[in-house]
Amino acid sequence: MGNNSNLGAAKSAKNDEFYTQYADIQKEVNAYLEYNPDTFRDKVVLLPCDDPEWSNFTKFFAQNFELLGLRKLISTSYAVESKKYKYYQPSLFETESPVFDADKTRTHGKIFVLDGDANGSGHIDIDDLQFKYLEGDGDFRSPEVCKLRDEADIIVTNPPFSLFREFLAWIVAADKKFLVIANKNAITYKEVFPLIRDNMLWIGPSITSGDREFMVPKDYETHSPSLRIDEKGNKFIRVPGVHWFTNLEHGLRHEPLKLMTMKDNIRYGRHAEIREKGYLQYANYDAIDVPYTDAIPSDYEGIMGVPITFIDKYCPEQFVIIGQTQGDSGKELGLKPFDRSLKQYNKSLRDGQLYYMVDGKPEKPYARILIRKRQ
Ligand SMILES: C[S@@+](CC[C@H](N)C(=O)[O-])C[C@H]1O[C@@H](n2cnc3c(N)ncnc32)[C@H](O)[C@@H]1O
Repeated sequence: MGNNSNLGAAKSAKNDEFYTQYADIQKEVNAYLEYNPDTFRDKVVLLPCDDPEWSNFTKFFAQNFELLGLRKLISTSYAVESKKYKYYQPSLFETESPVFDADKTRTHGKIFVLDGDANGSGHIDIDDLQFKYLEGDGDFRSPEVCKLRDEADIIVTNPPFSLFREFLAWIVAADKKFLVIANKNAITYKEVFPLIRDNMLWIGPSITSGDREFMVPKDYETHSPSLRIDEKGNKFIRVPGVHWFTNLEHGLRHEPLKLMTMKDNIRYGRHAEIREKGYLQYANYDAIDVPYTDAIPSDYEGIMGVPITFIDKYCPEQFVIIGQTQGDSGKELGLKPFDRSLKQYNKSLRDGQLYYMVDGKPEKPYARILIRKRQ
């Protein structure tokens, strides 16, 4: 039992070690600057759950400190021993630093701060980063990292996948601006979806589909066909379904979807399914099913069930989000219980799930988000 849970902890710790590429960070940040060049101006930016000696987050924000107009950059790491990391060698940067401490290198988190021209070069850049050890292991929940969070204006990172819910709650509790990477499945989490519905969180502009490559530790075992090893032996794998989650304003989210009327979708739309059957009405909720985001009718005034991927294109000036039908949330929306006599046709049907009738038999759509046109 003990061994199993240790193994489980080690495995999930390993799945947390995915390092973001410089170009992905740059592309995303540039999209905010295009919308508002002052997005980061005079701000204190905190990069928690990072590895400042070699993280691309620290590198990007430190190199662009002046361009972004930052006031202060703080980057912290989680101790090697807490990460359960086998492959570790302190960097030259650390061992050559006057504050290097062999007793702390594995057990303590690190903090790097950039807030001035420390080396007198005339510029504030990556060479001015000041390093020391944290008091503890750099856990984002520790009092010292919470204090740094409270000092920050914007929190940017790729947090540990296994702690995403807790990490987001940690940011929201302090009412901070943020830009973080997560799996798109997180959209439907009960801790995340209400924030999307209430316009407190939205998807970042630079990734709306496909996968992205992340660096993984050298001892990371994988059979992934996407594994790439570079000339230095660094390992990379492609991860599908990653998105940026943010509450920083950007232009894409204010661009309304270009849509056709219901009649035109049925007559000339690109989806044969809709041309043949039209839009199905749910049997237990007053709404229609729209199986493709680009088939949302521009002129339908009622409630529509749309795929989760709608969130990538969601423009709050165009639509209102009412809810989602994942898990038990359908019950809260007032979905009628299903007619028990239908169980013979579809054994997996449960109360709180949407269904429609096709040829006299009940069918469930994929997970849906319920929306309606903004009046
Ligand atoms: C997905 S990785 C991303 C690292 C880095 N931000 C990047 O993208 O290059 C998440 C990091 O968070 C660290 N981590 C795990 N649990 C943590 C915790 N409780 N507090 C702080 N960091 C943690 C992991 O060790 C890992 O290095």
